[in-house]
Amino acid sequence: MNKISIIGAGMTGATTAHWLAEREIADLVLVDVLEGMPQGKALDLLEAMPIIGRDVRISGANDYTETKDSDIIIITAGLPRKPGMSRDDLLSANAEIVGTAATETLKHSPDAIYIVLTNPLDTMAYLTMKKTGLPRERVIGQAGILDSARMRAFVAMETGVSVENIDCYVLGGHGDEMVPLTRLSNIAGVSLKEYLPADKLDAIVIRTRKGGGEIVNLLKSGSAFYAPSAACAQMAEAILKDKHLIVPCAAYMDGEYGLEDMFFGVTVMLGRAGMEKIIEYKLDEDEKAMFDKSAAAVKETHEALKNLVKF
Ligand SMILES: NC(=O)c1ccc[n+]([C@@H]2O[C@H](COP(=O)([O-])OP(=O)(O)OC[C@H]3O[C@@H](n4cnc5c(N)ncnc54)[C@H](O)[C@@H]3O)[C@@H](O)[C@H]2O)c1
Repeated sequence: MNKISIIGAGMTGATTAHWLAEREIADLVLVDVLEGMPQGKALDLLEAMPIIGRDVRISGANDYTETKDSDIIIITAGLPRKPGMSRDDLLSANAEIVGTAATETLKHSPDAIYIVLTNPLDTMAYLTMKKTGLPRERVIGQAGILDSARMRAFVAMETGVSVENIDCYVLGGHGDEMVPLTRLSNIAGVSLKEYLPADKLDAIVIRTRKGGGEIVNLLKSGSAFYAPSAACAQMAEAILKDKHLIVPCAAYMDGEYGLEDMFFGVTVMLGRAGMEKIIEYKLDEDEKAMFDKSAAAVKETHEALKNLVKF
């Protein structure tokens, strides 16, 4: 059985474990700083396995020893947003938490592939790669699957078409400047630009960009967790099953789209080697302008990180 350790057993971490246990693809370890909490959640989830008929070992811990020999480490530890906060407001608190989680887990699982969820996402993925010194194939940020799923859900709500027929591509940084690519997003092969009137499509783009904030405002404490954790589980499954699945994720840029030394949301292929390939689109002028604006925002947060942390 493969092994996945989830660092941070809060809303997203525990729900990721839930989605993963249903898939029966790996034994699971939940790690959190809160005493008893990861152990309690792990035991509760383990006790659900006979009911749903899955043979998965699930345990909880307050240190990293139990994460030994993990195939995948998922980092969800850190503070979530409160109403009125941007993802970037979390930088200094979460940099410390994520930096430690990354270096400590690597000691026990030198071959692991990292999936990072903690915000500000692109910058936390960058920090994980710098702190661990791993090649870019082995550090991937989760953002694009979620942002694209939100857009797919809104398109389905507007059109009544099955979500299965709707493909959306939301790339760029995981922030207010994210880039929903309406020309390439489609319903059964028909571009959304042709399928939907401009005003409806614009409203969907705006709602997608603010999708995380919409949920933060409704919940009042904490942020979204069902959809983000479903996205993490999909990534982990694609890696363990070597699916070569093409999905939007945050990846380290090494010249793609003219970007260097930063994490950014692009379409990638996920398989047993991790982030196996970046699929680069030919952007039109408007799309390129949106990419540049989003990249500038991500770079600014990366620079703020470099002032906080020495690699
Ligand atoms: N990338 C995305 O799409 C996305 C989506 C949702 C949430 N997030 C981010 O994920 C993070 C977690 O969100 P959440 O809703 O699960 O928050 P949460 O508060 O429910 O859980 C976070 C957990 O991390 C734990 N933690 C803190 N320091 C730790 C440490 N040093 N080691 C281990 N665990 C530690 C806390 O005790 C808590 O249980 C936040 O930064 C949030 O913004 C990202």
